[in-house]
Amino acid sequence: MTGSPAATSTVVRVRVNGRAIEMLVPVRLTVAELLRDRLGLTGTKVSCEMQVCGVCTVLVDGNPVSSCATLACDLHGSEVLTVEGLARGRDLHPVQEAFMAANALQCGFCTPGLIMMAVALLEDHPGAEPDEIREWMDGNLCRCTGYAPIETAVTVAAARMAATTAPPEGDQ
Ligand code: FES
Ligand code: FES
Repeated sequence: MTGSPAATSTVVRVRVNGRAIEMLVPVRLTVAELLRDRLGLTGTKVSCEMQVCGVCTVLVDGNPVSSCATLACDLHGSEVLTVEGLARGRDLHPVQEAFMAANALQCGFCTPGLIMMAVALLEDHPGAEPDEIREWMDGNLCRCTGYAPIETAVTVAAARMAATTAPPEGDQ
């Protein structure tokens, strides 16, 4: 490092929830810091900062990523989706609706990460089975719910998304 601004900062170009962002950022800025502190997207939470708890999960090009452990400069050219980008107007994403219907949250701190993790699975694999869901979600920690309502919510969302993406009868 030379100590010059060019050595410690870089321009990142990225789309966040469909919005094009171009910003000069410190090379050590994390994605969580970019989202929360620079873009005001505080739906993404941070806890362990060690890639252990899953609360900071966002999607980068459709894949779940720990935003606490990913550098913003590594996003360059990517598409980022956070919990704020899921709803379409007043229509919540099926995973969000299922979490509400199943009372799958108490304090809610873990919820955005859990929802983004579930979305990553079900957008690719609607109709995932309960054992697949359990295995996929096991890196996301929740201290309140005991996990059963979360499992119910994701299972219900999986069934609903499978039903809406299934080809019409006769086309199978
Ligand atoms: S805050 Fe990122 S994994 Fe825990
Ligand atoms: S609802 Fe409180 S940590 Fe999960």
